[in-house]
Amino acid sequence: MTRSELIELLSIDDPKALQRLFARTQVVQSSVVGTKVFLRGLIEYSNRCRKNCYYCGIRGGNRRVGRYELTDGEVLQAVDFAWRNRYGSIVLQSGERQSARFVSRIARLLRQIKEHTHGEVGITLSCGEQPDEVYRQWFEAGAHRYLLRIETASPALYARLHPATPAHDFDARITALHQLKAIGYRTGTGVMIGLPFQTPGDLADDLLFFRRMDVAMVGMGPYLEHRDTPLYRYKDRLLPPAQRLTLALKMVAALRLLMPHINIAATTALQALHPTGREQALQAGANVFMPNLTPVEYRASYRLYDSKPCLHESPGLCMDCTACRIRLAGNEIGYGEWGDR
Ligand code: 5AD
Ligand code: SF4
Ligand code: FES
Repeated sequence: MTRSELIELLSIDDPKALQRLFARTQVVQSSVVGTKVFLRGLIEYSNRCRKNCYYCGIRGGNRRVGRYELTDGEVLQAVDFAWRNRYGSIVLQSGERQSARFVSRIARLLRQIKEHTHGEVGITLSCGEQPDEVYRQWFEAGAHRYLLRIETASPALYARLHPATPAHDFDARITALHQLKAIGYRTGTGVMIGLPFQTPGDLADDLLFFRRMDVAMVGMGPYLEHRDTPLYRYKDRLLPPAQRLTLALKMVAALRLLMPHINIAATTALQALHPTGREQALQAGANVFMPNLTPVEYRASYRLYDSKPCLHESPGLCMDCTACRIRLAGNEIGYGEWGDR
């Protein structure tokens, strides 16, 4: 598909035409990747962050957030839950931190997780930009996937969403993605959809970027407001929730057509816009679900946007709810599978 074809697809708004689009992606999905949905249990390890992205509720500059870091015991308990319930893998996510202590703690945890689960649970890291040697150290300790969203493939838009400091450099982010791939990580990236100043052309470029980078997985979701962030002042410029959701679903559908084999997450932010947002994404072409495994008492402190769902639901509840939702959407769960291609 060309850029202009993608733009055309993203501008479909006739309900019948949308249904036809999703029916088409369903055919591609079931014939290429099947109807299985893979589970990646999400552990929000720490909300400390050295960065100040203008959209994010846990940006370092937000003094209203109580900062936390899980203990080793809490992480291993969450991993044990995932393993016993045959989640194929877990995602260890945290704000961007670069202290030597943090780096070695993550490495130690990776080894403990591998040992505890006899290497059965796949581990994805999502801990921001790090020096190449840190990526290597974590890879050797057992992580095999890394998620680092580009946020937008447009350097101009990127610059409007981040402070102009070396820690928020677009080119450095691209370099990081290349490094991760070269080390051997199954590399994932992603963007936010419906950002202020974002155009349909930007979104088409995001999709083409995923293809050019030949990434193994993509997590993308709607941008959602957080009142304690600089971007909040543009809230009146955003698409209304229903349209923002539809745009996100069209992005999922377009990506499934563009890269039929890729893993696409039905992200939590979709659920924040609509109770069945993630199930709708499964029907539009997504095939990965990330149930939240963070202990309940920390969930509200890892709030990237105001409307974060499941703040008070336990991992067990989210698990049962997730299983129900996936079946209702007509899919089956790939229990115990890593789900790599
Ligand atoms: N709305 C939606 N997604 C957000 N993220 C951060 N802040 C927001 C927000 N306000 C996403 C970013 C980041 C990921 C961890 O969460 O894409 O990479
Ligand atoms: Fe930190 Fe990530 Fe939030 Fe940016 S988006 S402030 S790097 S947690
Ligand atoms: Fe958490 Fe439904 S996924 S309660």
